[in-house]
Amino acid sequence: MLVLGIETTCDETAAAVIERAADGSGTIRSNIVRSQVDEHARFGGVVPEIAARAHVDLLDGIIERAMKEAGVGFAELSGVAAAAGPGLIGGVIVGLTTAKAIAMVHGTPLVAVNHLEAHALTPRLTDRLDFPYCLFLASGGHTQIVAVVGVGQYVRLGTTVDDAIGEAFDKVAKMLGLPYPGGPQVERAAGNGDAARFALPRPMLGRADANFSLSGLKTAVRNEASRIVPLEPQDISDLCASFQAAVLESTADRLSVGLKLFREQFGAPHALVAAGGVAANQAIRSALQDVADKAQTQLIMPPPALCTDNGAMIAWAGAERLALGLTDTMEAQPRARWLL
Ligand code: KG4
Ligand code: ZN
Repeated sequence: MLVLGIETTCDETAAAVIERAADGSGTIRSNIVRSQVDEHARFGGVVPEIAARAHVDLLDGIIERAMKEAGVGFAELSGVAAAAGPGLIGGVIVGLTTAKAIAMVHGTPLVAVNHLEAHALTPRLTDRLDFPYCLFLASGGHTQIVAVVGVGQYVRLGTTVDDAIGEAFDKVAKMLGLPYPGGPQVERAAGNGDAARFALPRPMLGRADANFSLSGLKTAVRNEASRIVPLEPQDISDLCASFQAAVLESTADRLSVGLKLFREQFGAPHALVAAGGVAANQAIRSALQDVADKAQTQLIMPPPALCTDNGAMIAWAGAERLALGLTDTMEAQPRARWLL
């Protein structure tokens, strides 16, 4: 089956066509992502109104390119899938409404996909992974540990009680005067820094649940930074290194607990899967490898372009649902919040 996927929940306007064979394997026929980073950079973060308008401007062209590159006509599609949330509601409305229009005009089945479910199912496209497995999703908007038990069967084992990890990286970058998006900047600065210079808190360490908390750590960075005047590049690097070390230690601890909870409820996972923009961080990647080794499971990270927001993951989640006969009606609603 051929499925078109549309992603507009944040600041990427994306569309892709994937093909799913009867044996459950998938092929990406096209995957077009237009990042709006330039539109938002001068505001130091994503501005929802600007994102929504940019999706309106860009989406038609992106879909056209995705269909053309895939060499597929609308009449050949087995389904059209759109991320119906969670996300910035203006953008979600643009994507879902466009998918409904295509579905209506061409009589194509519609699938309203949960964006988080799409992240969760991506390793089945890239690595043909079997259920169950443990997902660590860490992006600018989400930080979750999820047991992926089957299509539509997700059990949240842990989540952040305040900021998402990527959000914390972005806020720390902003307070230290580094440009948006801050994650890669903080990682780069940390590379030249002394992680032992500042004694920052390790949030939630040793707790029996698998939840995260980042806001106290972020505040601790702000307090340390405010005591240094003027703030020199070396101070910034040391703060970034100390912050990143604290995130690593806390993340490793939270994930080990998450994997323990997973085992208790579902037995051994087939893998620990990391997704979301934060998984692009090399230091975090190696920390995750340690966690997986200790838990005697494999670490799977879909390639970066499929870890961050894209249309292929939405198309794939749509195809997985379609294969089970799960479609949606024109009544499907866009949702700003939508738990897995
Ligand atoms: O998944 P993603 O592209 O978009 C969503 O938020 O859905 O993730 C973006 C987030 C941003 O907060 C960004 O700062 C963070 O991932 N990020 C990083 C790195 N690269 C991206 N955080 C830490 N280190 C990085 N190298
Ligand atoms: Zn995402």
